[in-house]
Amino acid sequence: MSVDRPRPLVAGNWKMNGLKSSGEILSALQTSYTPGLKAKVELVVCPPATLVHSFAVASVGSRIAIGAQDCHAKESGAYTGDLSAEMLADAGATYVLAGHSERRQYHKEKDADVCAKAMAAHRAGLTAIVCVGETREEREAGKTIAVVRKQLRGSIPVDSNSHNLVVAYEPVWAIGTGLTPTAADVAEVHAAIRDELKRLVGKADHAKVRILYGGSVKPSNAAELMAVENVNGALVGGASLVAADFLAIAGAYLG
Ligand code: PGA
Repeated sequence: MSVDRPRPLVAGNWKMNGLKSSGEILSALQTSYTPGLKAKVELVVCPPATLVHSFAVASVGSRIAIGAQDCHAKESGAYTGDLSAEMLADAGATYVLAGHSERRQYHKEKDADVCAKAMAAHRAGLTAIVCVGETREEREAGKTIAVVRKQLRGSIPVDSNSHNLVVAYEPVWAIGTGLTPTAADVAEVHAAIRDELKRLVGKADHAKVRILYGGSVKPSNAAELMAVENVNGALVGGASLVAADFLAIAGAYLG
């Protein structure tokens, strides 16, 4: 383990799930986020935007950070239905996802859009979790590393550092499918991301940027995936909606 190894982060992406009653899940996480676990891993919950404020209020004191799932690039204006990074920060978020593959797929977000959103996050004082990952076709064509490097070069703003940037590698074919890459495949991609960060973030800080793995992370595979070199945590979808599963994934860091 390198001395530079950053503090791991396990983030839950609730996607379009969760009502006021889901505060029970947050309460369960708070109860079990013991000092021992806090010392080993940072937890972030990204509920739907409707719950960001109440969750942020409820999590004061527990040190569970609250994130949003998307933001608009502009600070304000005539963009019906959108939310700015400043609004999310005002509501109590400290993180925001940018470029999740579901946004890239269903909202046609391109790398330049993702970069603008990550810049907006930085402008508002939020940490951007920039998501990248190849499709099944790209993997089968042997293009994974080239695709991920290109996404990083297009999506990561120049003002990024280890405080305002987290990268999440999420192979599109692994999201919500129960499929995961092998540990060797994850190691190869995360090493390439670390290498790319050297150029994008700068030599001094690149080793401290957290690189998360996401895509069908569950309690049964978390320990193996989290042990891979350059994997500094997880971005968890489905399993983050069950407090016990999310905690068991974070518990991979208790060793
Ligand atoms: P999953 O989703 O854990 O349900 O595969 C991960 C994600 O989309 O962030």
